[in-house]
Amino acid sequence: MTRYLVTGGAGFIGCNYVRFLLSGYPDAKVTVYDKLTYSGRVENLEEPLARFKGRCELVIGDICDSAAVERALQAAQPDIVVNFAAETHVDRSIADPDTFVRTDVNGTAVLLRQASDQGVARYHQVSTDEVYGPVPVSQRSSEGDVLNPSSPYSASKAAGDLMAMAWHETYGLPVTLSRGANCVGAYQYPEKVVPLFATNALLDLPLPVYGDGKQRRDYQHVLDHCAGIQAVLEHGQPGEIYNIGTGTEITNLEMVRILLETLDKPRSLIRHVQDRPGHDRRYGLDISKMLGLGWSPAMSVEESITASVCWYRDNRAWWEPVRAGEFQDYYARQYAGRPDHVR
Ligand code: TYD
Repeated sequence: MTRYLVTGGAGFIGCNYVRFLLSGYPDAKVTVYDKLTYSGRVENLEEPLARFKGRCELVIGDICDSAAVERALQAAQPDIVVNFAAETHVDRSIADPDTFVRTDVNGTAVLLRQASDQGVARYHQVSTDEVYGPVPVSQRSSEGDVLNPSSPYSASKAAGDLMAMAWHETYGLPVTLSRGANCVGAYQYPEKVVPLFATNALLDLPLPVYGDGKQRRDYQHVLDHCAGIQAVLEHGQPGEIYNIGTGTEITNLEMVRILLETLDKPRSLIRHVQDRPGHDRRYGLDISKMLGLGWSPAMSVEESITASVCWYRDNRAWWEPVRAGEFQDYYARQYAGRPDHVR
């Protein structure tokens, strides 16, 4: 049996990783530790909790709560801790940076300290390509590049990365770290662009494209990302950082074209609105280090977007209650009265 503690396992990437582990690794036992925020939803785990009874359990708790983390670690006795717990949405970080510093910096430090005190055999920190900041079309970000985050979100994640590497250097905790490109797939809260635009389009609502829509992103499928994390756990070296993505990017307008064509919806739904402050024009990862581990993405950017959009088309029962809740206030705050983009 390999015992995992998966923090943030009720969120988007976390709940996909939990499914990936339980269905692909019969010897895996998973304890999910999750605060259950607006995006970490117990519904995301109902199916694995029922299907893998005895191999999957949920402990509700905050990674900032040191005593609760200690209790969870003592009860679960994990061999491996994988930290997905984070505040993740750039627009929310612009409105409320403190929450991001609390969870992504302080929470990470708490988890590292407790994992180190318990002597876990591996700690994996899940991070993002956004810590590198925007890169020109002629360049790709490599793992050793200087961090240059633009938003309170990416700055908080960058601080968490530095903290994780410090725990490796100072206390000898066997830390690995991955920086993922934008992820798409099932169970993503519809604040992120693909589920937001897919569900808006299904409701015949406008798609609020920030600025000119020529920003470039690498949209990888969440299951490729999960397989990448597993490859790092199995073949990566402690103290090392790994970029996970497809290694190609498209513009947001190209992403919108794929999405609308998949749903057979008109381009007239596109509405260019005022840009996000500090909006990074392009992220682009060099994924050669991951390829060297024997991993490669199974899906292209276009296939990833199409598969995700089809999931939202076919799973209204998941997103309709999500959009009926906290989302309503968020959407009104974020988009109502937002001026059109001036060309
Ligand atoms: P997002 O999903 O928020 O991820 P990130 O900002 O972390 O890359 O956004 C992806 C891209 O889509 C990014 O360039 C911002 C853009 N975007 C819009 O144009 N409109 C929107 O309503 C949102 C949420 C994002």
